[in-house]
Amino acid sequence: MDLLDVSTGGNAPKARIPVEPGYQVPVAARVKAETDLPTSAVGLITEPRQAEEIVASGRADAVMLGRELLRDPYWPHNAARELGAAGRLPDQYDWAV
Ligand SMILES: Cc1cc2nc3c(=O)[nH]c(=O)nc-3n(C[C@H](O)[C@H](O)[C@H](O)COP(=O)(O)O)c2cc1C
Repeated sequence: MDLLDVSTGGNAPKARIPVEPGYQVPVAARVKAETDLPTSAVGLITEPRQAEEIVASGRADAVMLGRELLRDPYWPHNAARELGAAGRLPDQYDWAV
């Protein structure tokens, strides 16, 4: 296994899932701590600095985005710019903003 992407199901009617920014990150952090496998986190990760903090704090090795990427397919490019990471896309993309 190369990577565990940790999500949680909404298919149990009695499950009470607190839907808030990063709401599944604690689950990913626990899985990572208990398995020591590369782990990614999901769940309302929508802000570049939020994503950076999750990885920098060691709670996950990577983050993945679902709905936010549907809203903004250029999120990775814009996040890289906001965080000062250059060169992720061909120059032409920078010429378009
Ligand atoms: C309507 C809906 C239903 C979902 N159902 C499940 C599910 O049954 N099991 C599961 O593991 N994840 C489920 N997810 C979570 C997604 O698989 C995925 O982890 C999540 O959408 C990623 O987070 P993000 O979209 O907030 O970026 C569901 C998500 C949504 C929006």
